[in-house]
Amino acid sequence: MSKRKKVNRAWLAQHIDDPYVKLARKHEYRSRAAFKLIGIDEQDRLIRPAITVVDLGSAPGAWSQVLRERLARPAAAGGGVDGRIVALDLLPMEPIADVAFVQGDFREEETLRRLEEALAGARVDLVVSDMAPNLSGIAAADSARMADLVELAVAFALAHLKPDGALLVKCFHGSGYSQIVELFKRSFVRVAVRKPKASRDRSAETYLLGRGPKASAVAGVDERSGGGS
Ligand SMILES: C[S@@+](CC[C@H](N)C(=O)[O-])C[C@H]1O[C@@H](n2cnc3c(N)ncnc32)[C@H](O)[C@@H]1O
Repeated sequence: MSKRKKVNRAWLAQHIDDPYVKLARKHEYRSRAAFKLIGIDEQDRLIRPAITVVDLGSAPGAWSQVLRERLARPAAAGGGVDGRIVALDLLPMEPIADVAFVQGDFREEETLRRLEEALAGARVDLVVSDMAPNLSGIAAADSARMADLVELAVAFALAHLKPDGALLVKCFHGSGYSQIVELFKRSFVRVAVRKPKASRDRSAETYLLGRGPKASAVAGVDERSGGGS
């Protein structure tokens, strides 16, 4: 058997036995990733009623499903959601009720413009980003592409978050990691590192949580974009 087939078989066996895969199926989440956001939210209480939240790298949609569930209004109160959810991905995403979806590359100006249009001027309470580039296997190149996405997510958050807003992003604990942590420390009043139970131990994936954009960092973004929003 080729090495690649062996790796695929090992991955499949682990996937089938994975408790989070089973739980995701039970709760009808589109992926086990749902439990990463649930795990972090249990600790940090980020998802509160009536918030405006942006879900970056949303496909296939498990985080948006969790957000939708948490913001859902009881049927007796008219249904729908109490708040606003805007999701974005390069790939298409099956619709989720009450979730506005923008398809496009977050690195492109045009996508950013459509995302801002979907927000219709609303300031944002929470930005979550589970974006990850397609991995090439070349560690330095993968880390650089990940860092690029994180930097863009930070710039977006600084430009759109409310003063008590928060940004949660996925990053890789590899080369470039300490620079990303430094960027977070320059940008937010409180910074925490999170590795939810559902994130596999052997994965370099880590989440950074920044709360309270620093006024100095917001001013820097406003200057670069030619005025505040
Ligand atoms: C790990 S998946 C996200 C899973 C999602 N949180 C969920 O719960 O279903 C990462 C996503 O990031 C998206 N992505 C990667 N680069 C992107 C970019 N430049 N712009 C928008 N989305 C991107 C990918 O298309 C992929 O769907």
